[in-house]
Amino acid sequence: MTNAQLQFSKRMEPITGSAIRELLKLTAKPGMISFAGGNPGNFALPDEAIADIAQDMLKKDGKKLLQYGPTEGYRPLLDTLVGYVAEEFSVTASQEEILPVSGSSQAMDLISKAYLNPGDTVLVESPTFLGNIQCLRIFEANIVPVPSDDNGIDTVELERLINMHHPKMLYTIPTFQNPTGITMSLERRKTIAQLAAKYQMLVAEDEPYRSLRFEGTPLPSIKSFDEGGWVVLMGSFSKVISPGLRVGFMVGDATLIRKCTVCKQSADVHTPSLNQAIVNEFVTRGLLKPQIEKACAVYRTQMHTMLEELKKIQAIEYHTTPEGGLFIFAAIAEGKDVGPLFQKAVANNVAFVPGEPFYPEGGHKNTLRLNFSNADVDTIRKGMSILRSCFDEN
Ligand SMILES: Cc1ncc(COP(=O)(O)O)c(C=O)c1O
Repeated sequence: MTNAQLQFSKRMEPITGSAIRELLKLTAKPGMISFAGGNPGNFALPDEAIADIAQDMLKKDGKKLLQYGPTEGYRPLLDTLVGYVAEEFSVTASQEEILPVSGSSQAMDLISKAYLNPGDTVLVESPTFLGNIQCLRIFEANIVPVPSDDNGIDTVELERLINMHHPKMLYTIPTFQNPTGITMSLERRKTIAQLAAKYQMLVAEDEPYRSLRFEGTPLPSIKSFDEGGWVVLMGSFSKVISPGLRVGFMVGDATLIRKCTVCKQSADVHTPSLNQAIVNEFVTRGLLKPQIEKACAVYRTQMHTMLEELKKIQAIEYHTTPEGGLFIFAAIAEGKDVGPLFQKAVANNVAFVPGEPFYPEGGHKNTLRLNFSNADVDTIRKGMSILRSCFDEN
């Protein structure tokens, strides 16, 4: 039944839903080789360890974990996060500066709710993560794209755009970016922290892929160079433990965290305590590091297989060479459209994501995103060979 009389908010009129989520439905048919998702590989989901932990935690503290909990977060997880953000992100934060959230997507939602008025300008790197473009659109932000290159956001162009648009916020994914896989250079991280303080612009730093490093040296987060509370860091356990648990966190100025906590009270009261406890135990039992090492060893081989196969496709004129994460971004000749190739690939049971929806300004129809975490090496070879025939036999 559909009710044609329902009058939705004006705010939702231009929002159509994630093009990628729609596309993933299309590619869920049996036999499809999908390079379209952004999930961790199924092999990497620690179901048995989590079953043990869940049982232990319910036996030990079941009544408390099944009761309502504080919006501010499950206390033992907060304790753990203080050490975790220091070690992983080089960020010193007190518990008042950290909020566990229901996936880092919720952090973006809470920040937008707490900090943005309709019409406020938000700069975003282009291309960027579609889910958070959608979030900014729902909060009626004026989204202005900032060009990026193989070292991340072009900071000269960024300062020019700051002077032109006086933005309230910048949204960036500095490490193994979605969709490009690119990592922002150290210099640019420092520059962005300086520009944030100079122009009083909040920086929302989104880091869900940071720990999935296969090569190269980890770089400090932008937050670690923060002067005066202008950077808010969004972290997630989705890509390293389980996206289904929906546990992430945000780290920022204590007043911003407080405002976001108030917004969270009416959003979901708190992130499920059992899930917070599971993540906390997973980290404190020392399971996270070996889990990441195991996953990265496999992802690394999968990524290199995909890169090898990608180089054989003559139509591909450009591709990124990431040092980690889950994605490779590629392009065919400027002015061409991957749309018909996507249709052809799906008809031949291989899926990828056309790049256009990742660009807030649209266009760039010649680009595509490929995910390498959800197919084993043989399947990657098979799928890429099918893509090669679709792309090169024109
Ligand atoms: C850049 C980026 N940020 C945030 C998220 C959402 O992560 P979470 O599951 O923690 O909400 C994703 C998921 O794909 C992502 O790619």
